Amino acid sequence: LKRDPRYGQVTKEHVDYFKGLLGTESAVIDGVTNENATDDIEPFNSDWMRKYRGHCKLVLKPSSTEEVSKILKYCNDNKLAVVPQGGNTGLVGGSVPVFDEIVLNMGRMNNIIEFDEVSGILTVEAGAILEVVDQFLASKGYIFPLDLGAKGSCHIGGNLSTNAGGLRLLRYGSLHGTTLGIEAVLPDGTVVDDLCKLRKNNTGYDIKQLFIGSEGTIGVITKAVIQCPQRPKAQNVALFGLESYEAAQQAFREAKGHLSEILSAFELMDGSSQALVRQVTKKNSPLEGEYPFYCLIETSGSNSDHDGEKLQTFLEDVMEKGIVVDGTLAQDETQVKALWSFREGIPEVLSHLGGVYKYDVSIPLPEMYQLVEDTKARVEEAGLLGDTDEHPVRAVVGYGHMGDANLHLNVSTRRYDERVEKVLEPFVYEWISKRQGSISAEHGLGLAKKKYIGYSRTPTMVGLMKQLKDLYDPNAILNPYKYI
Ligand code: FAD
Ligand code: MLT
Ligand code: ZN
Repeated sequence: LKRDPRYGQVTKEHVDYFKGLLGTESAVIDGVTNENATDDIEPFNSDWMRKYRGHCKLVLKPSSTEEVSKILKYCNDNKLAVVPQGGNTGLVGGSVPVFDEIVLNMGRMNNIIEFDEVSGILTVEAGAILEVVDQFLASKGYIFPLDLGAKGSCHIGGNLSTNAGGLRLLRYGSLHGTTLGIEAVLPDGTVVDDLCKLRKNNTGYDIKQLFIGSEGTIGVITKAVIQCPQRPKAQNVALFGLESYEAAQQAFREAKGHLSEILSAFELMDGSSQALVRQVTKKNSPLEGEYPFYCLIETSGSNSDHDGEKLQTFLEDVMEKGIVVDGTLAQDETQVKALWSFREGIPEVLSHLGGVYKYDVSIPLPEMYQLVEDTKARVEEAGLLGDTDEHPVRAVVGYGHMGDANLHLNVSTRRYDERVEKVLEPFVYEWISKRQGSISAEHGLGLAKKKYIGYSRTPTMVGLMKQLKDLYDPNAILNPYKYI
């Protein structure tokens, strides 16, 4: 990749304009005129996986839609490239610059604007942190319809821009359905005000959907209206061990039958992923034995005893049928959290161990786990498995949102290594494409999958995406060098 000479260099004159516009010192981190600012800028240049690193020298933190609009208009007029950034927890290198693009960090736009306690409709600024919003909703008896491991850092705007799926999509559906309205700013400064608070609104094209999942390439989301469900009074969790992937599929089938409307998560973890969690966290397994597969089931309902009984009956039934070998039920909230930590903690543990090649894929369920087996065989064949400098791959693991047929294939290595990448790509993408899967189920494409979009989208569809990009962002200032 080469820096595109179309884009202007950020100068002192530009910085002065932004300082004048944003007023307070803390809203501009200026590494253009101040060489000592490098350390302050570093976190904005580097992604969560420490895989991608930009060279930005200017971070802007607007506090209102009007400021976002003025910044973008100025950048557009001066051909300055911009990367919108939320909590910077994205996993495809989309949230950090590639060269010297300006980072537009949304962290100061974090207000909860309005909440209707009858309808559960929430209006919130894009820079609000998911967990903070969810805690606010909890105090009102509601829940945010999305939950994920990065909740303590990720922003609502980042969630919408990636169309994050998370742990309860099975129950609450995708943000494409739960987002009722959006306010976004186009690169020329135009404010698109679609802060609709209606559940139903079939008046022409649903333009807001374009901003959901487009990863900051056509506009900056500044506000959103979300339909929030009632917070379930009871949450029950079970974790169990299984001997095969076949059994995990049967367990999923049975769980839907037994638990139907109260089922709120069905997650899969393979034995290798759990061995790494135990190794790093030094926690004991909640089950006595070790198994090739584990599943975590969560129910959300209004009566803990009733739901607990249902879960117990389910567990007894699947154990009797020989589908599940061993299982445990959480008895209280502490245990619920403890069981979840064996699933939610996997990304953190893997990142702690060094480099991780992450593949977030959708594959029809019957073949889903085969991708992990085939990838492991390929890495072994290439002589890369071994956890030494010469053989840097520690483990090939699989986990994910089984209820959504969404697998996370992760290859854990001592450090990022080109030899490993060459063995994995495009192999993994070809494998998925042959099975009509998706190369990005929930994380997006960003920089990581820039070259590979064609494995999941036809040339016609990529062409249509390019037309939209040209229409909304004719100077291509927003999130350049990424997938579009
Ligand atoms: P960022 O990382 O800052 O940005 C992500 C993308 O959105 C970038 O392209 C950026 O340019 C753009 N963007 C950000 N804000 C805006 C805005 N206001 N307007 C326009 N564009 C914007 N994802 C899942 O789907 N499911 C999971 O279960 C899940 N679990 C995770 C667990 C961990 C531990 C981590 C680290 C990540 C996880 N993710 C998961 C990845 C997920 O994409 C992010 O956590 C989250 O949705 C990104 O939000 P963010 O605010 O950090 O966005
Ligand atoms: C998850 O489900 O844990 C996330 O999507 C993060 C990851 O894939 O590691
Ligand atoms: Zn996930």
